[in-house]
Amino acid sequence: IGAAADVPLGQARSFSDPATGDPAWVVHASGSRFVAFDAVCTHAGCTVNYDPAGVQFVCPCHGGVFDARTGQVLQGPPPTPLRRIPVRVVGGELRVDA
Ligand code: FES
Repeated sequence: IGAAADVPLGQARSFSDPATGDPAWVVHASGSRFVAFDAVCTHAGCTVNYDPAGVQFVCPCHGGVFDARTGQVLQGPPPTPLRRIPVRVVGGELRVDA
């Protein structure tokens, strides 16, 4: 995905999930913790945007909002959380955990 140091605390970077080809986000959630999610909204499949102010993902289609640390739905019509993608930092590089 890239160097962990390039994603400051509270920020996110987009990437493509190698397993599915879906757009995805990796978020620097706290200290040394990074979490990643499939960016395809669980409502109707739009691609969610990252909002660093709220540490949330916001769906442009119907106003769905997800917690960017957990993927849980905070508001709007999405029926389920965003799909989690396992990632870890290896030698300073962010890697998808296959
Ligand atoms: Fe995301 Fe409808 S597709 S809220």
